[in-house]
This record gives sequence, C-alpha cells and structure tokens, in this order.
Amino acid sequence: MNLGFLASHNGSNMQAVIDACRAGRLAASPVVVISNNVDSGALERARNERIPCFHLSGRTHPDPGDLDREIVDVLLEHDVNLVILAGYMKKVGPVTLATFPGHVLNIHPGLLPDFGGRGMYGRRVHEAVLAAGAGTTGATVHVVDAIYDNGPILAQTKVEVKKTDTADTLARRVLALEHELYVETIDRIIRGEIKLT
Ligand code: GRF
Repeated sequence: MNLGFLASHNGSNMQAVIDACRAGRLAASPVVVISNNVDSGALERARNERIPCFHLSGRTHPDPGDLDREIVDVLLEHDVNLVILAGYMKKVGPVTLATFPGHVLNIHPGLLPDFGGRGMYGRRVHEAVLAAGAGTTGATVHVVDAIYDNGPILAQTKVEVKKTDTADTLARRVLALEHELYVETIDRIIRGEIKLT
C-alpha cells in the first residue's frame, strides 16, 4: 500500500502514520506529501523523512481545476493507492475524488456526525464540545466525499470530557488518540478487516 498525504499544518498525524510504516507496524510506504502551505510542519517533516514533497496551492495553481489535476498527477506519479488527509484544510477536488474513489481518508477531532462540517475544525471542535456540555468526545476516521466531514465513518475512539477540561487540554488528549486511531484504522484496511469500496 502506497500512502500519499495531504496536510496543511503541523502534520503530527502524518508523522504517526510514517513512524508506524518505518517501524513495520503498517505494511505500507509513505511515498509523497503534498501541502497547500509552503511553511507547514508537514513539509518539514517530509524533508526530514526524505519523502518527496510538494507545495501545491492556489498560489502555485490559481485555477482550482488545474490544482486538482496537478494533485492527482503527483499522486499517480508516485503510485499512491491510499490518500491520507492529515489536517488538510482544503476541500478535496472532484478529480482527486474520482481518481481515488472511496480511497481518500480523513481524521476529525470529534465524534462525527456531531461537531463536524464546514468551519468546524481544530480548536473550534473542542470549544463546541465544551459549549454543548458533551460528556464524551473523541476522534473519527472517515472516507472523504465532496461534503466536509460527511463520508462513511470507518472508526471512532471515545474519551470522557472532564469538568476541568479546556479546549487546549481536550485538543491534546484527542490528538494523542487520533495518532493511535489513524494507524490502527489504516492497518485494518491493509489487513482487509475494513473494506473500502
Ligand atoms: C487534527 O486534530 C485532525 O483531526 C484535524 O486537524 C488536526 C491536524 O493535526 N483534521 P496534525 O497536523 O496532524 O498535527
């Protein structure tokens, strides 16, 4: 399984998956990293790992259709068969989705379908969980479709929200769970326990 990553910021989920590949825990190879953010930690991590990496964004490709096609070209050139979104803040284009049907995954720092959708990302998710007084939160791995946080849910992990929690403490606790959940879910896909269409 060749993994291609799309990431916008820190890339800690991407790093967790790369580490699992390197450690032999995942029968997969991280083959390419694409970021829309030229200064992202994700590109820095890719360079440190000697993984081919590319900055592709509205700056390099002002036309969204061109950008979508270029992303697909880069993924195909590197023989990617599973696309891993790791904190990717852009919508995945229709050509990418059509080229990798059912094979684009995302991780969300909440229990979808709650606390998801447009504008619901990062700290905002944890703030909304606290504002709603939810007793439980967690993380979700799902297949990506044309609508934000909407595709079929593949796996979830839950954690209790404590009375003393702030958005920051929740973010830290959930992120640690995300790393584990993403690796575990990719492993189950590789083993055929989870079937992608
Ligand atoms: C994670 O919380 C992930 O769920 C969300 O964006 C964050 C990315 O963190 N989609 P990182 O870049 O993987 O460190």
